[in-house]
Amino acid sequence: MLGIHAGQGADEDLGARCVACFVQAADDAGLPEDPDFRAGFNAYMKWAVGDVLSYSSPGSEVKPDVPIPRWGWNGLE
Ligand code: HEM
Repeated sequence: MLGIHAGQGADEDLGARCVACFVQAADDAGLPEDPDFRAGFNAYMKWAVGDVLSYSSPGSEVKPDVPIPRWGWNGLE
């Protein structure tokens, strides 16, 4: 997943717009309004978009052995 996003470049506000799209998509899909769930979901999306964008510089490559992150109610595990 990181590999297909890597090296694409990014405008300065791309991360914020991306997170806003994911949050809007959660609303559109009718995901539960439960505050704990929404807080966890929003925090995950913010972190995940940041992770994706950390590889955005042209020429960035993702090493094949990057571990799959685990995300729980308390954030990154
Ligand atoms: C700055 C934020 C992001 C942007 C601008 C973005 C943009 C894109 C684009 C343009 C594609 C299509 C790539 C292609 O087909 O060549 C794509 C695919 C994909 N993205 Fe993202 N993405 C972002 C963040 C994320 C995040 C945070 C996740 C997951 C947590 C994610 C998961 C995926 C997956 C799974 C695909 C492949 C979908 C498929 O082929 O069925 N993306 N993204």
